[in-house]
Amino acid sequence: MDGNGRWAEAKGQRRLEGHRAGADSVRDITRASRELGLEAITLYAFSSQNWARPAEEVAGLMQLLREFLIGERSEILDNQIRLEAIGDIDKLPPMVKEPLDELRAASSHHRAMTLTLALSYGGRESIVRAVQAIARDAASGVLRPEDLDVARFSGYLPTAALPPLDLLIRTSGEQRISNFMLWEIAYAELVFTDVLWPEFRRQHLYECLDVYANRERRFGLTSAQLASDV
Ligand code: IPE
Ligand code: MG
Repeated sequence: MDGNGRWAEAKGQRRLEGHRAGADSVRDITRASRELGLEAITLYAFSSQNWARPAEEVAGLMQLLREFLIGERSEILDNQIRLEAIGDIDKLPPMVKEPLDELRAASSHHRAMTLTLALSYGGRESIVRAVQAIARDAASGVLRPEDLDVARFSGYLPTAALPPLDLLIRTSGEQRISNFMLWEIAYAELVFTDVLWPEFRRQHLYECLDVYANRERRFGLTSAQLASDV
């Protein structure tokens, strides 16, 4: 979800106003995703690296996160959405962590859609954490190194319970990954749009899904193989 700051600056507003408008996009995209019947969406809301932004901006983002968790609580629960979080959640201030933990627990049995917030999240950091856990299991004899494969490794990542990543959308014209789901994007389709996140609403999501639907996903195979293997 990129481009909040540029959106605000272009209007002569403070960056935080961009984040505020971006929260409206989050609401619209979450609703649209649920209505479309998507199994899971993950929103990259705050990276491990974002902590280094000016303290005032970080504080504003934390306030907006709290407002989102409190303001959207009943709609999330009413719509059978399971709220999850990935990232270094313990770094979040209690004003965010408490409503986050509460909503995770209250929605944990919901199955209509999983809405995951990536908070204090980094793809490389997640991989390092997985390797730490793998090393512990190897040292204690729970895991034999020769038994480690792609599927087992995936099981150590915070996304283990999510379905495979099909589509990654980045807004605001930047064509880079910025430390998001580095392992999980292996065969994801990437869609880059110039639309700034505060202007990214459901019609843009539909357009991205249309682009996705017209891609041929080969997973290393040939087109002919895919055609014969109906
Ligand atoms: C993305 O918008 C939101 C967060 C990182 C929280 P930015 O704040 O990165 O917006 P730009 O890139 O400065 O426009
Ligand atoms: Mg940015």
